[in-house]
Amino acid sequence: MRVLVLGSGGREHALCWKISQSPKLSQLFCAPGNPGTAHIATNIQVDLSNFESIKGVVIKYEIEMVVVGPEDPLVNGLKDFFAYDNQLNKILFVGPDKNGAQLEGSKDFAKNFMFKYGVPTAKFQTFTKENSDQAYDFLKTLSAPYVLKADGLAGGKGVLILDTIEEAYSQLKEILEGKFGSAGNRVVIEEYLAGIEMSLFVLTDGTDYILLPEAKDYKRVGESDTGLNTGGMGSVSPVPFADAEFMNRVDERVVKPTIIGIEKEKMDYSGFVFIGLMNCNGNPYVIEYNVRMGDPETQSVMPRIKSDFLEHLINASKKQLSGDSIDVYNHTQLTLVTVSGGYPQEFKKGYPIIGLEKLGASDYFVAGAKSNENNIVTNGGRVLNITASGNSIIEARERLYDLVNRVDYQDIYYRKDIGLDLI
Ligand code: AMP
Ligand code: GLY
Repeated sequence: MRVLVLGSGGREHALCWKISQSPKLSQLFCAPGNPGTAHIATNIQVDLSNFESIKGVVIKYEIEMVVVGPEDPLVNGLKDFFAYDNQLNKILFVGPDKNGAQLEGSKDFAKNFMFKYGVPTAKFQTFTKENSDQAYDFLKTLSAPYVLKADGLAGGKGVLILDTIEEAYSQLKEILEGKFGSAGNRVVIEEYLAGIEMSLFVLTDGTDYILLPEAKDYKRVGESDTGLNTGGMGSVSPVPFADAEFMNRVDERVVKPTIIGIEKEKMDYSGFVFIGLMNCNGNPYVIEYNVRMGDPETQSVMPRIKSDFLEHLINASKKQLSGDSIDVYNHTQLTLVTVSGGYPQEFKKGYPIIGLEKLGASDYFVAGAKSNENNIVTNGGRVLNITASGNSIIEARERLYDLVNRVDYQDIYYRKDIGLDLI
């Protein structure tokens, strides 16, 4: 099978790494890819917002399967573009259609879906400029802290958690006035859920599904979960509190009704459902849906899958997941994101990365870096994803922090406490 992975981050490098191990693969392409994917795939320059240019690549390289890494092309209807094109509609596609992608593209849509299908989630109401006067009354029915969410895609910045009702009300007005652009034309206000978060990954064909290993993401830039929110500073899989009893509840109360909803809403959904869960005293609540894999969770999830991942993707995209099952390794996998100093605020790019030759091919994934003459240089906030396994979190942490000591670039920063809270 000739496979094209779309995207350019550490998530896509990890997807390529796992797919490249499949005996079913004949050739792997990544667009646009990065210096890490270049070792295992043919990188192709393409603008992911230009569907005609994606089509050009798919035809030129005789691609048989497309795997979409990030959410934007899905929310913008890439699957529908393939489905309505005579030259593309036979190509296997991993990712939902535009209707399904609304589960991530619109928080209001996702919340209504959860309520309709009985998926446990926080109480909510949606406000626009027209009814914002009523927001204060709704806020009064909740208790602090207050959660505000811009409805549309806001690059991970659209969620605010505020301590006072006054702040919440004034932020609501600011979002409705364009603080997050059109993503904030509607704002979801919801009840705050106290608990521990985890990321659940479901691969579905729209009717049947398999559960990939779960993971926990470390979102804040500072140790002990302090400081600004980021795209993710590290991840761990498995999550110790996700024991069989909890996962059983998750399956019954969250996954099954979600897949039933996907089927009933006639979504053309062959792909990933990434469910952000809150464990509230042993009961799962859904914080959000995403229609793709998580980053940096994928970097800890892929090394834990034993079975042929490409075969699972083929089954999902052919709508033949019934009877499929996944084999996983029992080890613990930890991933550490090294970032550019200053991230998630201002940072500089273009610093040479040294020491990568001291790492094995399975010890790291490349995120924000590019090739520059003979060097690989930093090219983003999140730069490298170092990853290590062990029989315990303690063992994996020892390996992880030994590995990260071998690499360097100017102003490198990373958290030293990945996994520590779970020991
Ligand atoms: P999201 O962009 O929906 O993932 O939200 C970003 C982060 O905000 C989540 O990962 C949670 O940590 C937090 N969050 C979102 N919704 C809630 C909620 N209802 N209660 C508590 N925390 C929340
Ligand atoms: N790590 C969270 C995300 O990918 O959205």
